[in-house]
Amino acid sequence: MVGNVIVGQSGGPTSVINSSLAGVVKTARDRGAQKVYGMLHGIKGLLDGQYVDLSVKINSDMSIDLLKRTPSSYLGSCRYKLPEVNEDKTVFEKIFKTLDELNVKYFFYIGGNDSMDTIKKLSDYAAVVNSDIKFMGVPKTIDNDLAVTDHTPGYGSAAKYIAATMKEIIRDGLVYDYPTITIVEIMGRNAGWLTAAAALAKGEDCEGVDMIYLPEKVFDIDKFMARVKEMSAKGKSMVIAVSEGIKVADGRYVFELSDHVEFVDAFGHKQLSGSAKFLANKIGAELGIKTRAVELSTMQRCAAHMTSRTDITEAFNVGGAAVKAAFEGQTGQVVVLKRISDDPYMCITETHDVHDIANVEKKIPLEWITDDDYVTEDLIHYMRPLIQAELSPIMVDGLPRHLNVNF
Ligand code: F6P
Repeated sequence: MVGNVIVGQSGGPTSVINSSLAGVVKTARDRGAQKVYGMLHGIKGLLDGQYVDLSVKINSDMSIDLLKRTPSSYLGSCRYKLPEVNEDKTVFEKIFKTLDELNVKYFFYIGGNDSMDTIKKLSDYAAVVNSDIKFMGVPKTIDNDLAVTDHTPGYGSAAKYIAATMKEIIRDGLVYDYPTITIVEIMGRNAGWLTAAAALAKGEDCEGVDMIYLPEKVFDIDKFMARVKEMSAKGKSMVIAVSEGIKVADGRYVFELSDHVEFVDAFGHKQLSGSAKFLANKIGAELGIKTRAVELSTMQRCAAHMTSRTDITEAFNVGGAAVKAAFEGQTGQVVVLKRISDDPYMCITETHDVHDIANVEKKIPLEWITDDDYVTEDLIHYMRPLIQAELSPIMVDGLPRHLNVNF
């Protein structure tokens, strides 16, 4: 194996994204990589000359074990969109100059559909300038909205946290002898996969959530209010899951119906937050029912104490598979998971052309959403294996231990 490796993380973090980093670093070293560099804050950091030699921090089996259990993006992240080559070629020249100076021959980027745009542009540019650097995408996102792959690493753990937290919120939310409404807002942007995970709460010991509102369907506020009124008139307390991305018929997000501060990132994504609060206020004001809004926010993507072992293992494996594929000569590809069996659940890794994956959003098929604002058994069946098994935190002084980030 000739040349060095560089790896970066991009987009929103997950609680297992560092397991993919561990998979890249360990597999690259096991297969003879001389040096493994880490970009700090992804491609944006690299452009600013920010990178580190990872042998300084990740240099033992213990550091790999801790890294797998460390939430958030260990190397830092960015939401940075590379220009098109014909818009600004100098950006590409700068990146390739830095890679050549570091003798990097293998480039790995751990991210979602926006981040795969970076792999697409860099591998396309490499082909134009006849560079032999291999560019590989390593999938991650709690949103589970990446095309082609069965699911994305990061989703299973966030889904497990959401389902477990929902069980607790439901216990609390049904406690009084008068009706109350609890509205829980869940991330996932324009895809409802994460919010749908609220359905996993239902079981022998839990009534489950009453309604689930996903961004795949137009949100009808009047129908929603009527339903809440009807159920609470019967004395029923309710717990309702809503996606941060629900929209009304005119295309506005629900949170945009109230005053809010608009933040838009480089990919044109608005910061989605406040739908649960808006709906809770509306119910309180118009129906006079006690309501509470819970925004799971960052917690759902950094709850490393509640990860799915299935997820953390797959996250590690996709990192390893990316290294193997690149070392064998592949470039401009993304590692994807292919489900080959449901019972027992089994997934294998494959690689797929990045052009089919970059910037594409995979949503929940409409036939998996019911007319009474819930999800089908098929969707539950798809999600259930992804939350299975646990990886215990390494506890020190009563708290989970993480790998110290201090470059
Ligand atoms: O892309 C993953 C994600 O967690 C989305 O679910 C969410 O809308 C977004 O990131 C939030 O991003 P940020 O932390 O940059 O506001």
